Amino acid sequence: MRVLGLETSCDETGIALYDSEKGLLAHRVYSQIALHAEYGGVVPELASRDHVRKAQPLINEVMAEAGMTLSDLDGIAYTCGPGLVGALLVGACLGRSLAWALDIPALGVHHMEGHLLAPMLEDNPPEFPFIALLVSGGHTQLVQVDGIGRYSLLGESLDDAAGEAFDKAAKMMGLPYPGGPALSKLADSGDDSRFKFPRPMTDRPGLDFSFSGLKTFTRTTILGCAVDGVLAEQDKADIAAGFQAAVVDTLAIKCKRAMKETGINRLIIAGGVGANKRLREKLRQTAESLKGAVYYPRPELCTDNGAMIAYAGTQRLLAGERAELAVSVVPRWPM
Ligand code: KG4
Ligand code: ZN
Repeated sequence: MRVLGLETSCDETGIALYDSEKGLLAHRVYSQIALHAEYGGVVPELASRDHVRKAQPLINEVMAEAGMTLSDLDGIAYTCGPGLVGALLVGACLGRSLAWALDIPALGVHHMEGHLLAPMLEDNPPEFPFIALLVSGGHTQLVQVDGIGRYSLLGESLDDAAGEAFDKAAKMMGLPYPGGPALSKLADSGDDSRFKFPRPMTDRPGLDFSFSGLKTFTRTTILGCAVDGVLAEQDKADIAAGFQAAVVDTLAIKCKRAMKETGINRLIIAGGVGANKRLREKLRQTAESLKGAVYYPRPELCTDNGAMIAYAGTQRLLAGERAELAVSVVPRWPM
């Protein structure tokens, strides 16, 4: 079965072609980061319009790279939530209309299910069951994955997502949007022990997270260091390093707890924050300490992409799932 995947939930237009026998045939991601940078965050209306502009040309590129035409498709999968409603509608309308014109099935996919299953696109996919840490700009969740469609939420952030905390802390330090990668780069030249950032909610039982306190701690630390409102470069780097270490430690402590409580020692990391080098290293050590292993999708499949949607959609279509012709999206949608 060959399935075209469309991801348009936020600020990336992701298009991919997945073959249930041959694997990923081609994929493209167009990031709108430059478009939103001057506003310091994603502007929903601009995001929708840009998806309209980019989706069709990217579909053409993907089909050309795979040496195929639309008539070779057996199904279409599109992200139908959660996300920005206008952005989701672009992918959903395009997906459903194409499927109708081609007389093939189309299916809406949960964005987070896509992230959860992204490691299955790699050469050595983890066996079920595994624990998944989803860390993106919109979500921080620990999920037990027993199989396709069998997900149990173990814990999640009660306030800001980890990526959102990175972005907000970075903004306070005057770093460009999106702040996560910029803050992480700055942290390389900082001393993470100078400022004692808290590790929120790690001293009580449970697998939920809270990152908004780190934001407040960052603001207070900046105010304490700044002279006439200006931070010295080394102070900035030390704050970045302290902040990053706190987020990474907190995530690692909860991952270890989840693995111990479930007895499952395979851990997968998905979502944009999964690109963080320090987090990767820490979680590798964590999994090894439990004689387990940690799995990452390659960086371009860690962030939003169409391949994960094509994969998740293929599994559901193969299982016989079908959807009605009506277009509907679900901007807020628990997993
Ligand atoms: O999964 P993603 O591409 O989009 C969604 O939010 O769905 O994740 C984007 C998030 C942003 O908050 C970005 O700052 C963060 O991932 N991020 C990072 C790094 N690379 C991306 N955070 C920390 N370190 C990084 N290297
Ligand atoms: Zn995402």
